[in-house]
Amino acid sequence: MFQGKYYTVTGAASGIGKATALRLVEKGAAGVALSDVNLTGLHETVEECKKVGSAKIIATKVDVRDSEQVGAWIADAFNQFKQLDGAANVAGVAGGTGDTVIETIVQKDWDFTLGVNLNGVMHCMRAQLPYISRPGGAIVNVASTSGRRGLPHNAAYASSKFAVIGLTESAAGEYAKHGIRINALLPGPIDTRIFRDGEALGLFDADSISADTLMGRMGKAEEVAKVLCFLLSDDASYVTGAHWNVDGGYLAC
Ligand SMILES: NC(=O)c1ccc[n+]([C@@H]2O[C@H](COP(=O)([O-])OP(=O)(O)OC[C@H]3O[C@@H](n4cnc5c(N)ncnc54)[C@H](O)[C@@H]3O)[C@@H](O)[C@H]2O)c1
Repeated sequence: MFQGKYYTVTGAASGIGKATALRLVEKGAAGVALSDVNLTGLHETVEECKKVGSAKIIATKVDVRDSEQVGAWIADAFNQFKQLDGAANVAGVAGGTGDTVIETIVQKDWDFTLGVNLNGVMHCMRAQLPYISRPGGAIVNVASTSGRRGLPHNAAYASSKFAVIGLTESAAGEYAKHGIRINALLPGPIDTRIFRDGEALGLFDADSISADTLMGRMGKAEEVAKVLCFLLSDDASYVTGAHWNVDGGYLAC
């Protein structure tokens, strides 16, 4: 399904981005350009990818808040691969603290969360769209169930994720005529570092949020990566502008 195809993945050092990189390589992708701010974690992902497939791998330290870094990374990936079929824009931060309310939001914290979670996705798509295959290209932007439902004490995170859905739907509307599909993925509680960071900040706890899902448990990064890779694949050929929940039923009831 991914044979002969080339992909980019942000946030590839950890969690959902790492699981996505591993799945793309395991399923036969010809090349993956991986990025993250965490170079140590990124190199660990590369080593694990080498064990599961033979894809050409490019690993680059990129802060998605920096438009120029993102642009240089994507241009370099295209120069090396000569082709770009899909992009998984996954990088994100939890932001917030357990006691912040709107009146006490610190501007730099707000700007940081929006900078990574929203501007980062925009920087990626703006850099990717000139290169991505027309027709046939696919982009998946990782939002969150907090992009459909407010998150008290972390308005910055919820606002950034609502905005990623708006950005994704708008982009889908602009590029459908070029044969490029653009979708948002909305994970619920997934057991990764960002979730545990949020828990440490007092935003939620694993037990009560698990109980709020219909399935009564947290999800795994690999379960999200499977749906993400489906959306990148031609099996999702009639899916664009959608927001897919991978949340154990968290939003349903
Ligand atoms: N885990 C959850 O419960 C959950 C729920 C909903 C949405 N999400 C979203 O899923 C995505 C992936 O998160 P995860 O759960 O895998 O967490 P994670 O913390 O394991 O991975 C996030 C990755 O993003 C990277 N990153 C952070 N800031 C960056 C920046 N400025 N530039 C480049 N990379 C940066 C981190 O280094 C890390 O490797 C995020 O967008 C997150 O908001 C996660």
